[in-house]
Amino acid sequence: MGYRLWPVKGNMGYIPGRSSKKETAKEETGALEAIESKPVDLDLLKLKKAYEDLEETHRQLRESHIEMILRLALAAECKDPDTGGHILRISDYATEAAKAIGMAPDQIEILRYASPMHDIGKIGIPDRILQKPGKLTPEEWEIMKQHTVIGARMFLNSRSPLLGAAGQIAQTHHEKFDGTGYPNAMRGEAIPIYGRIVAMVDVFDAIVSKRCYKEKWSFKKAMDYILTLSGNHLDPKLVKVFHQIEKKVRRVYEANVTIENFIADFKPNVPDPGI
Ligand SMILES: [Fe+2]
Ligand SMILES: [Fe+2]
Repeated sequence: MGYRLWPVKGNMGYIPGRSSKKETAKEETGALEAIESKPVDLDLLKLKKAYEDLEETHRQLRESHIEMILRLALAAECKDPDTGGHILRISDYATEAAKAIGMAPDQIEILRYASPMHDIGKIGIPDRILQKPGKLTPEEWEIMKQHTVIGARMFLNSRSPLLGAAGQIAQTHHEKFDGTGYPNAMRGEAIPIYGRIVAMVDVFDAIVSKRCYKEKWSFKKAMDYILTLSGNHLDPKLVKVFHQIEKKVRRVYEANVTIENFIADFKPNVPDPGI
């Protein structure tokens, strides 16, 4: 995660050009300890206060950045009125699956914030197709599939790891493990892990949710159905893990997540997602 828009918690005294984050952090801690251990020195106290103010400003900037990303994802959802809190549940399911496979915390945080944007490309799909109550014609279906490519294009060449991941997820969340997905018919582990995870939780949440063309399935029926997709649509290792964490999945399923509590939940102690 080389790129930072701004310094983050634990990295208050960011100095451009420093080679090692660890080294920098150590030096900063030392500097602050020195400040704290001095008797009364007005200038040093002012400096300490300035550091604290700077850290608070950075925290607020990061929070508003994350909030804007989520609200942007919600803008895409507005075009697809059936989906409700879908993007937020996707993030929660994906986070649980990522934790269960032992993904690194930084990567989990990136997935957490990038996964809500998986369908952002739907902004570019005409409403007459997106909101059509009946079955799509083959031509309309081809247009619908383009939401993956449109989404990827929206984040093209971003220097932010978070937005880069959002583009990758947009591009790959309809690829299938057996190579029959779209837009690139990628196969197996050639599909990035973020795309494989979002593919699984996207299917799961779609089938347990009511849509204009179908009733919602029960939790049990949906879990069983996911098993039938192992190895064809979905990564078998992920399907196995998803069943192993069934209790956590159910907790997300039963929670009534809104954007307000979604953002509030993630405020404290969020590791640096590299944005
Ligand atoms: Fe999609
Ligand atoms: Fe989705």
